[in-house]
Amino acid sequence: MKVRLGWSVAIIIFMGASMAMAQEKVMSKGEVLFSAGGCGNCHTDVESKGPFLAGGRKLETPFGAFYAPNITKDKKHGIGNWSDADFIQAVRKGVAPDGSHYFPVFPYPAFTDMTDSDLKAIKDYIFTLPAVAKANKPHGVSFPFNIRFGQFFWKLLYFSEGPYKADPKKSKEWNRGAYLSRAVVHCGECHTPRSILGGIKNDYWYAGTPEGEGPEGEGAPNITPHIDNGIGKWSLEEIVTYLESGEDPTGDYAGSLMAEVIENGTAKLSPADRKAIAVYLKTLKPLP
Ligand code: HEC
Ligand code: HEC
Repeated sequence: MKVRLGWSVAIIIFMGASMAMAQEKVMSKGEVLFSAGGCGNCHTDVESKGPFLAGGRKLETPFGAFYAPNITKDKKHGIGNWSDADFIQAVRKGVAPDGSHYFPVFPYPAFTDMTDSDLKAIKDYIFTLPAVAKANKPHGVSFPFNIRFGQFFWKLLYFSEGPYKADPKKSKEWNRGAYLSRAVVHCGECHTPRSILGGIKNDYWYAGTPEGEGPEGEGAPNITPHIDNGIGKWSLEEIVTYLESGEDPTGDYAGSLMAEVIENGTAKLSPADRKAIAVYLKTLKPLP
């Protein structure tokens, strides 16, 4: 009896371990990038427990409320009919298959820096998920900001097309961190203040956004290495820990949108990738 119990415990432990291993394995490159890019966070109506990626999340901006569309592989309501080239054009250039321009509330100005192969991996992952037949909700944005053609001029002012070009003077690790921060996790979309027209102010890169002007009408703190206003006192390890578990050096946990960015995103990156982001953050210009 004792022996048999021992065996079944061993088998359960073995099954548990191999299941955990299998789970690690199913996280394909596409799924990791998709998670880190927060695609699921915006394209799912989390508040009303809507179906995954079927759209509907309300995004408050100074120009009105936008609703992220359905990006499941549903052929009628989602992107099921899109080719790889359509998908890459949408995310790299902010241009829809019909030639119209997207609003930058879709963070394509950051995602533009992703490589073709990473974008293709994300699309392949999205196409492994179920199709959901759910119609899109029109944006609640008024004239003149609702004119898609206006986005053409916006792009001339604020948009520079990717992909990211590695800086040969910097290390491989730094370039990986820069790529992940700028292109994939798009820290700057929340942590950098914007002009009246909603363009990122590059002179204030990662210097924080005031309450009411940041993502979804909230603010986001300064994450430059400034000692008093930023995270200059955080060690490299402390930044890595925060991006993994959300615990900051005082023992508090990340709240609001950052909790989502960590839990669904940076927590799923490899330890080496989290360290690369921290290495990149440490080299930024400290801004008050
Ligand atoms: C901050 C919220 C946000 C995040 C994060 C986000 N999106 Fe979107 N996305 C939007 C919004 C809003 C639109 C609609 C833009 C418009 O109507 O001009 C959109 C549009 C799109 C479209 C065009 C859909 C269509 O029907 O034309 C695609 C494709 C897309 N997103 C893919 C992605 C992918 C892939 C990711 C992750 C790498 C992602 N999005 C992350 C908000 C977001
Ligand atoms: C969707 C918006 C959003 C994105 C994207 C985002 N953040 Fe944040 N971040 C926030 C918000 C909001 C807070 C404040 C969280 C809180 O109140 O606990 C925050 C807090 C932080 C903090 C804590 C600062 C402090 O002083 O406590 C750090 C560090 C941080 N973010 C780093 C990053 C990095 C690095 C990235 C990209 C890899 C990133 N964030 C991407 C919104 C965002």
